[in-house]
Amino acid sequence: MRRTVLAALAAMLAFGGGACADNFPSHPITLVVPFAAGGPTDAMARILVERMQNTLGQTILIENVTGAAGSLGVGRVVRAAPDGYTVSIGHLGTHVANGAIYKLGYDLVTDLEPVALLPSNPMIIVSKNAVPAKSLGELLALLKARPTPATAGTAGAGSGSHIAGLYFENITGIKLQYVPYRGTAPALTDLVAGQIDIIIDQTSNSISQVRAGTIRAYAVTDDKRVESASDIPTTDEAGLPGFHMTLWSGLWVPKDTPKDIVAKLNAAAVDALNDPAVRKKFENLGLQMPPKDQLSPQALGAWQKAEIAKWWPMIKAANVKVE
Ligand code: MLT
Repeated sequence: MRRTVLAALAAMLAFGGGACADNFPSHPITLVVPFAAGGPTDAMARILVERMQNTLGQTILIENVTGAAGSLGVGRVVRAAPDGYTVSIGHLGTHVANGAIYKLGYDLVTDLEPVALLPSNPMIIVSKNAVPAKSLGELLALLKARPTPATAGTAGAGSGSHIAGLYFENITGIKLQYVPYRGTAPALTDLVAGQIDIIIDQTSNSISQVRAGTIRAYAVTDDKRVESASDIPTTDEAGLPGFHMTLWSGLWVPKDTPKDIVAKLNAAAVDALNDPAVRKKFENLGLQMPPKDQLSPQALGAWQKAEIAKWWPMIKAANVKVE
């Protein structure tokens, strides 16, 4: 009797282990985007899945689960079955900063399995056209002279646009009044409409409106110009030396997802990142491709830990209040 139970258990594990990885994916995968549709994270996800589906031979559905600077969307993946069919896309905000701000109810490192590092986005300082500043120097002077803080759109406390704001305040001593949205897509709509004053946004999100002349750009937060927007100076050139921030992104799955399923998802992501047509789309958006030797799941895990060590002290010192 005992022997048959053990044999059955071994068979089940074999089916649970190797077999499901062998025929993974056998039905559609869900990629959870923790911000509003049409924003920078959503745009990156849509370009990526279009190509990853080819490698995996399976549909990848995008589900936008928004709120609390992306922490609700990440939580949805943490609670999902560790079978590779629910994947999280996120970034420095969702997978680093939120852990220093929110009581998440999950651990960003131990409750998730890294899959692959994705492109990174230099941030860009933009304002509504009604702001009468023609350069970053003029903008800083104007923000300093204002009797009340300027309103800065963000995707919520802990989001990339918020962390960039905290860092900006830290470096300039200029206070900002944050206005949270469910993503920087709706924030950008309000900037174009003149409802808010500035956003420190992801270049890929704002660049089309900058080119359309509906908002004003002052600088990109990097030590080199963005190839596809080379008319916009760097913060070093524009008078805010050292204010550098690029928002890196990544893919994660729930902890305990079988290693060979993680490997299949990683391989599909790497295929997409190596595809010249995909790279062109990303570069046109001002995105920077991750280094080729940083594409393993382990590389993302190590990078995430290093970024937690780097950013948490500043974020905790800012004592961010969330409801
Ligand atoms: C978005 O997709 O809306 C952004 O990634 C939000 C942000 O973190 O600023």
